[in-house]
Amino acid sequence: MNPHFRYRNRHMFCEGVKIEDIIAQVGSPAYIYSKRTIVEAYKEFDLAFKDIDHLVCYSMKANSNLNVVNILAKLGSGIDCNSGGEIYRALKVGVDPKKIIFAGVGKTPEEIRYALQYDILMFKAESRSELREINAIAGEMGKKAPVGIRVNPDVSVKTHPYIATGLSENKFGIDSSLAREAFALAHSLPNLKIVGLDMHIGSQITEVDPFIEACNKMVLLALELRKAGYNIEHFDLGGGMAIPYKVERPASPKDLAEAIGATLNVSDCKILFEPGRYLVGNAGILVTKVLYTKKHKKKNFLIVDAGMNDLIRPSLYEAYHKIKNVHLKNEESIIADIVGPVCESGDFFARNREINKCKQEDLLAIMSAGAYGMVMSSNYNTRPRIPEVMVDGSKFYVTRARETYEDILQKETIIDEIVENMA
Ligand code: LLP
Repeated sequence: MNPHFRYRNRHMFCEGVKIEDIIAQVGSPAYIYSKRTIVEAYKEFDLAFKDIDHLVCYSMKANSNLNVVNILAKLGSGIDCNSGGEIYRALKVGVDPKKIIFAGVGKTPEEIRYALQYDILMFKAESRSELREINAIAGEMGKKAPVGIRVNPDVSVKTHPYIATGLSENKFGIDSSLAREAFALAHSLPNLKIVGLDMHIGSQITEVDPFIEACNKMVLLALELRKAGYNIEHFDLGGGMAIPYKVERPASPKDLAEAIGATLNVSDCKILFEPGRYLVGNAGILVTKVLYTKKHKKKNFLIVDAGMNDLIRPSLYEAYHKIKNVHLKNEESIIADIVGPVCESGDFFARNREINKCKQEDLLAIMSAGAYGMVMSSNYNTRPRIPEVMVDGSKFYVTRARETYEDILQKETIIDEIVENMA
């Protein structure tokens, strides 16, 4: 268990703050993050690769709360952005554009134009047509766009199929057999400047083997491309390192550094890493309150006030999250389904889960919810998005307030004319 979420006298604390005290102030449900966990994860990652010329670029899609991004940026991290909106967030907290990577398989012309206003580290291009589009827009703006090309190394990864990206059947990157042509095209386009080679093979990867396989292929390719005269300054390894959700014991950054460090050094490139989940996943919990308990013939249900709209990972990937009682009252346990209030059978956080007996009003903590939690939330069922809280030692801050019904309706307009002619 993350030492920054631990029990004292049977009450769960985040760092020095009692979870129940936070909920008494902000209400339930709420996301609660531990600053120290983020700082330690970043330092661990960065230190593991100290012998390699590198830059860690936090993949902000995992958790784009401005304060989370700010903490990582102040530690020196670059930022991997997957949309214009994410670039906007990065700039908002003062990230140096020179440390911003713009990735994504479907960048719109508007997003490309937006990013070109700033002197960013690079566009990660994923198709020949995208290369042409970036070139055309850069030309109109009188700019030279720095591009890296994402090549799909075609390695298989043991993870959920929705989050594996490195196989040629996935939509990502340029097929490795076509990589040379893509670099030749980029080289021929006058408004592009090739700066590197990129990959990303998937997410929640627990072993180093797929990274070894992909790196071996990609470093050879980097050397070949450089020999052919292309400017390969960066090799971007992407993200994907796993965290423990259940009983997994995933490889650590140190394990990865030991496994691929020598190969990376042969490439003679500056190495970019894009960890997302590893830096923030275990730094967050989702606290939710038991609204009702009920029993069907064979099942116990705990109906809680958070739903799949707040944390969709169990519904979408059947992802496992540990669930703990915020106040451990007794040791007697039951087997129950822990479900939300949304009108879908898929709205569950756990099925047939052993949990300490609880009753109405008890608080539960859904663990390891710092990555791909809040960022994937929605207003389904017109449910307001929940607050985010950052704990720093013995203090806590509301970094995003709970939405109101008015917030949700803000962009909607009732147009009377639509109902004028109802015949
Ligand atoms: N770089 C690229 C190009 C990516 O597509 C991703 C994640 C990352 C870096 C960061 O990967 P990480 O280090 O976090 O594994 N919603 C899913 C995960 C989707 C990951 C998408 N890409 C989940 O909840 O498990």
